[in-house]
Amino acid sequence: MHTDVTVLIMAAGEGTRMKSDMCKVMHRICDYPVIEYVMRASERISSSPPVVIVGHKAEEIEQYLGERAVFVRQLQRLGTGHAVMTAEGHLKHRDGYVVVLAGDVPLISAETLRGMVDYCVSGGFGAVALTALLDDPKGYGRIVRNINGDFERVVEHKDASGFEFEIKEVNASMYCFNVGALLDGLQKMDKANAQGEYYLTDVLSNIVANGDSVGVLTTEYSDEIIGINTRMQLAQAQRSLQAKINEFHMDNGVTLIDPDNTYIGIDVVIGRDTIIYPGNVLEGRVIIGEKCVLYPNNRIVSSKIDKGCVLQSSVVSESFIEAESSIGPCAHIRPGSFIGRHVKIGNFVEVKNCTVGDNSKVSHLSYVGDGQIGKDVNVGCGVVFVNYDGEKKNKTFVGDRSFIGCNVNLIAPITVEDDTYVAAGSTITHDVPRGNLAIARERQVNKQGWIEKRKTQNKGAED
Ligand code: UD1
Ligand code: MG
Repeated sequence: MHTDVTVLIMAAGEGTRMKSDMCKVMHRICDYPVIEYVMRASERISSSPPVVIVGHKAEEIEQYLGERAVFVRQLQRLGTGHAVMTAEGHLKHRDGYVVVLAGDVPLISAETLRGMVDYCVSGGFGAVALTALLDDPKGYGRIVRNINGDFERVVEHKDASGFEFEIKEVNASMYCFNVGALLDGLQKMDKANAQGEYYLTDVLSNIVANGDSVGVLTTEYSDEIIGINTRMQLAQAQRSLQAKINEFHMDNGVTLIDPDNTYIGIDVVIGRDTIIYPGNVLEGRVIIGEKCVLYPNNRIVSSKIDKGCVLQSSVVSESFIEAESSIGPCAHIRPGSFIGRHVKIGNFVEVKNCTVGDNSKVSHLSYVGDGQIGKDVNVGCGVVFVNYDGEKKNKTFVGDRSFIGCNVNLIAPITVEDDTYVAAGSTITHDVPRGNLAIARERQVNKQGWIEKRKTQNKGAED
């Protein structure tokens, strides 16, 4: 069955328990804001953009989601019931079903939500509340069922007393409503509770009082309903999602030496037989090919790394690395870099906005920025592409098969053509034509007998 639905996402709350200057739903898990996950689930169950209710730090969320959502501002935050009331205008002229989600419950899957919608439609319910059984239900609203086991009401943790504290079945804050039943149920809400708020959960009781029925769908995937109100819950959601992501990659043939200490973002693709050691962090749209080895402690951001590469303790961002290249330890590949096949970027080398051709080597302690290095080039230890003249960045070109000796400064803009040799210690200010040796340093003078002479002089001074 497929029923198209309107989705409402509540995201106006202040999130006081996070004790943060940042909006709660913009805190990140597995490298995306919490609201992103709710948004993706919504996009998978509905063909139209969701209505997102914003209030506290509204601009942050509006700017992040942009055209993907329609926004309603809840100027005063008077509770989840009030949040939905604020969006009434978007529901009045719609029939069918509305799915209400909480912006702070990110791990929900589209499959579970579809199951909830199907259950609501096929059961002819006025509303269905999604629930789960938790060993530690502290902080969540509890589901109170009547003697027949049917839904009676939700009692918030702060309003609970006696046996209600013992109830393990909690409200996920995700519902499917028949639009008519929701609009009727919103009519008679009050704030007679511990928090003095309009609770959306009361709408469920109102629907029952109006003679309609409320269904309860208990999901077995209790991690999907983790609500993020505290930093502890943020860490719990991060752990849970990370475990799922890591399991997915291991199922696809990737070796994770220590999955509990490997941080792979939700949009990362990894080829089989790649081995990942602890402390690796892969963020954004990262693609890693087959048979790579990521030794400990790399951070790779939105980059593509082809098969058979080896990386150690390095940072790579917004760059491409072709097959069988070796990076690090302690290299920094900054945005806009294209590293060819079978290249070596070694210890303490910084590459920025630079192309490095196949089989070239920049092995130690160099800065290569805003450059183009050809194939089979050797860049010696301590070479600097002097790209900044104090006003603008300038380009350095190094042709194929060239050899740049140790401790050379190439003062850009400059071209060192193919098949050249630049002597160690040179500061190169003029282009080097093809086939030349360039040498730009003081000629060495050896002063014969100088040490002996000094000794004699010093002795004379002491006497
Ligand atoms: C809510 C539920 C609780 C459930 C829990 C699951 C109510 C009354 N309680 O409690 O039964 O177990 O979620 O996580 O609904 N929001 C607004 N406007 C407001 C208030 C809140 O948009 O005026 C938004 C918040 O930004 C948040 C969501 O609604 O994204 C839920 O609000 P929150 O304050 O976190 O409710 P909980 O105490 O978690
Ligand atoms: Mg919450």
